Amino acid sequence: MKPIQVGLLGIGTVGSGTFNVLTRNQEEIRRRAGRGIEITMVADLNVERAREIVGDRARVVADAREIIANPEIDIVIELIGGYGIARALVLEAINAGKHVVTANKALLAVHGTEIFAAASAKGVMVAFEAAVAGGIPIIKALREGLTANQVQWVAGIINGTTNFILSEMRDKGLDFDVVLKEAQRLGYAEADPTFDIEGVDAAHKATLMSALAFGIPVQFDKAHVEGITKLAAADIRYAEQLGYRIKLLGIAKRRDDVGGIELRVHPTLVPAKRLIANVEGAMNAVMVQGDAVGTTLYYGKGAGSEPTASAVIADLVDITRLHTADPDHRVPHLAFQADELRDTPVLSIDQVRTAFYLRLRVADQKGVLSSITSILAASDISIDAVLQRESNEGEHQTDVIILTHETQEGAMRAALAQMQALPTVLAPIVSLRKEELA
Ligand code: NDP
Ligand code: HSE
Repeated sequence: MKPIQVGLLGIGTVGSGTFNVLTRNQEEIRRRAGRGIEITMVADLNVERAREIVGDRARVVADAREIIANPEIDIVIELIGGYGIARALVLEAINAGKHVVTANKALLAVHGTEIFAAASAKGVMVAFEAAVAGGIPIIKALREGLTANQVQWVAGIINGTTNFILSEMRDKGLDFDVVLKEAQRLGYAEADPTFDIEGVDAAHKATLMSALAFGIPVQFDKAHVEGITKLAAADIRYAEQLGYRIKLLGIAKRRDDVGGIELRVHPTLVPAKRLIANVEGAMNAVMVQGDAVGTTLYYGKGAGSEPTASAVIADLVDITRLHTADPDHRVPHLAFQADELRDTPVLSIDQVRTAFYLRLRVADQKGVLSSITSILAASDISIDAVLQRESNEGEHQTDVIILTHETQEGAMRAALAQMQALPTVLAPIVSLRKEELA
């Protein structure tokens, strides 16, 4: 059978990895797919650089629409990124009857509903394994491997750049800016690295996982998003002393008690003994808890050229195998049949329940601790542990660290406002969420 023909839009970090791996492992992939898979056309703004990568193995064009217009092309891979031209090209490719593979989590988290609907109407597939956790097959796990389960929660380190920054800062004492530049050099960071460090990229991925886990539409605008830019080295150290590591986690949790879904990204204290707390560098890991299977963990490279290419090519193989199948018999894009998605609400952050880590800079005088703990008690917030740093000689202030048991975020915010107003609290209180992930 003639090889399936693929057009590649964008041959940057992931695009070049995809071209190279597909070329290198061509024969093995053909044996798995049942048919050869060839990238026969490549579009990139930088035509010269693209030609250097592909040589004479594919036709290089500057205009991506030449690929979409080519009737010989069966599958279009979008590896340009962003919401702008990428959205237009993906929709045009779908309308031209092409299957689409993309690693673009930003596009799908924001415009997924429109894109999946367009694909269903045209009977084509949109595959996005590379969009979450790079090379880890977490989409496949959520969509197929765990299909028997009611998923309880998903929690993951799903941004390599921020995990790399947190690890390097903790282990080598390097500055934030230095480590960010290195992450950019290594090809982990997004074109706009604020998406990484402010938690937006992780929230795009958590949004996609929430849809797959709970059968809800993709709703990035409902996600609560906090990044790592306000994290202080002191909190990383105190967390260690208390037996925790701080990780930027993307969390999606079913809350049957209130009939909603928590969807949030924020720095999180995780017990140091958990495997996920020991995931370092640009590595990613996702934990999924299902009612039948219990807790599962998926680990691997979440970014970079060939790890991400591995996921892109897995999608190419899937599509090649299913190319001629009746569209009704394909695995649905978001794991649940399109007409079975529910409007279970995504909860506001005030309704979220977590334990907390608090750091208060206080005057070192009598009665300070009791004034703080009485506010917590009056707010029905139970204390799990307290740590008070000895003040240095001649210093009249100190840090008090409090770990609480689980409480509702709204109650904690009200208590924080009261504590902040105490004259003995000398600086803005640091509050971080804590998860046991058991
Ligand atoms: P790059 O910036 O390295 O590559 C994008 C490529 O697209 C560049 O070569 C760019 O050319 C080209 N391009 C831009 N506009 C057009 C256009 N209109 N037509 C054709 N080509 C165009 O990005 P990445 O490879 O890092 O990322 C690609 C996608 O994969 C993004 O959605 C990203 O979020 C996602 N992703 C990336 C991962 C990674 O580790 N890097 C991991 C997982 C997902 P030029 O450089 O000349 O602008
Ligand atoms: N910028 C992303 C990261 C790339 O650092 O994880 C992978 O999606």
